Amino acid sequence: MTKIFYVLITCLLVLSSCDNELKEHVNSEKDYMIIPKPELVKVLNGRFKINHKTQVYGGEVLAAEGNYLAKMLSEASGESISFANQGNIQLKLDASMSGEEEYVLSVQYNKIEILAKTAKGIFYGIQTLRQLLPSQIEAKTSVQELTIPATLIKDAPRFSYRGMHLDVCRHFYSVEFIKRYLDVLALHKMNTFHWHLTEDQGWRIEIKKYPKLTEIGAWRNGTIVGNYPGTENDNKKYGGFYTQEEIKEVIAYAAQKHITVIPEIELPGHSSAAIAAYTNLSCFPKEQSIVPNSLISEGSKKAQKNGNPKVVQESWGVYDDVYCAGKEETFAFLEDVLAEVMDLFPSKYVHIGGDECPKGNWERCPHCQKRMAAHDLKDEHELQSYFITRIEKFVNSKGKQIIGWDEILEGGLAPNATVMSWRGNAGGIAAAKSGHDVIMSPNSHCYFDHYQSEDKEKEPIAIGGFLPVEKVYAFDPVPDELNTEEQKYILGGQANLWTEYIGTEEYAEYMLLPRLTALSEAVWTKKELKEWEDFTSRLNHFKNRYDAMGLNYATHVFDDHK
Ligand code: ACM
Ligand code: ZN
Repeated sequence: MTKIFYVLITCLLVLSSCDNELKEHVNSEKDYMIIPKPELVKVLNGRFKINHKTQVYGGEVLAAEGNYLAKMLSEASGESISFANQGNIQLKLDASMSGEEEYVLSVQYNKIEILAKTAKGIFYGIQTLRQLLPSQIEAKTSVQELTIPATLIKDAPRFSYRGMHLDVCRHFYSVEFIKRYLDVLALHKMNTFHWHLTEDQGWRIEIKKYPKLTEIGAWRNGTIVGNYPGTENDNKKYGGFYTQEEIKEVIAYAAQKHITVIPEIELPGHSSAAIAAYTNLSCFPKEQSIVPNSLISEGSKKAQKNGNPKVVQESWGVYDDVYCAGKEETFAFLEDVLAEVMDLFPSKYVHIGGDECPKGNWERCPHCQKRMAAHDLKDEHELQSYFITRIEKFVNSKGKQIIGWDEILEGGLAPNATVMSWRGNAGGIAAAKSGHDVIMSPNSHCYFDHYQSEDKEKEPIAIGGFLPVEKVYAFDPVPDELNTEEQKYILGGQANLWTEYIGTEEYAEYMLLPRLTALSEAVWTKKELKEWEDFTSRLNHFKNRYDAMGLNYATHVFDDHK
């Protein structure tokens, strides 16, 4: 009897000393390496231990987030953790909170709580919790003795629009890669994926009413070799497209990660692929497409000889052969295309491009000139404005809004358009001053197709420029020129990944990371909390997560901060 009593006491003492150890464990700043940096992080004593008794609960409305967290913790710990109707990790909606994306995360040694106004806020709380776990969990291998440091985190983003773009036209990427890209965006609390789907070099979205867009427009007969204008044509057929089923799959996947997918259907420029499929969309259907420096592929040369003048472009840059603004059939075509696109994408916005549309063809086209006379348009810029405004009216009639690159300001801005400012800040400033919403994406800070080192010889071929991580980190979407009232029109910021020279998925990751990590803090974290040296120490830790996820990334910033 005495012996049993002694054993029992010993066990209780051991258990309570474990308990005390968890309760009193001393944490330090290093235990909270979170990117983007939250608004408030309290260093508290204690650790929450994941074990076989751990369960997540939060009610049916949070089942998706609850199951996601339970799965993450199960994989991380090797325990079987479920989303149940009770437990020591609670997810809770709190209607009294103000921000749609705000959350509070509280970790104590014996319970975890995430509070938010919406499921999206809960999801961001989970992303922060994920970063309090060791990086190895990203490799889906379980960690023994998994514990989480006690804390109280209060957080909300600075901007409601936090975007990342991908051009899938110059080069094409698999659905699997797009999902991986979305995984990376979610880790960074980015909430918008801008999917650039149509271009001179390829049309990438199935449109049921116009099958030739993908039968013909999704394939080019070759691609130039080397930096534009290139040295030769590789004469390799290249292309691909997403079926509408695949598009739906991507949108649903993104929705689980609280990412909105905004499609871009370029008009009136960058339309060579659509014109190759439906030649009447051109002002001059019989004129041959021109590939700069005559670097046209053998296949296209032959096709042109056989009476097919239009080609899906094989070189980069900007082309004169754009949608005719005079013919009614252009608008009928674009409205049909946009109708299918808007049916597919739940996003409030459709991006309609609007950039880099040369006016040479319109100047000599009788249809375009007739349109200008009929509408009393004084120049071709006003014709472009007519084009965009007409498309906007159609998009608005379906309850949606347009976004356009800053060239849509030329000739007069469509009444309800949101401007994406890419040629520096000027377009965004002008738009905000005239009461239009703006997304800042200046090529000085947000063009991830630029080189990451000044020593270009040592880098894979890129379009040009130099955009190191530090410069991305310094990006402030709100220009000094705006007063407090005008600043309200800045919805947020976005970086763009144009892919002329990005032929593989590994290279796309290399151009994305770690610049995206810097961008995420530039668009999430309050300006006064940003600090470069502090960021680099967290980034040094964060890169272990890239490694565990098997991501390819550029290492210059780590070499500089050893
Ligand atoms: C752009 O980079 N042409 C928007
Ligand atoms: Zn025309």
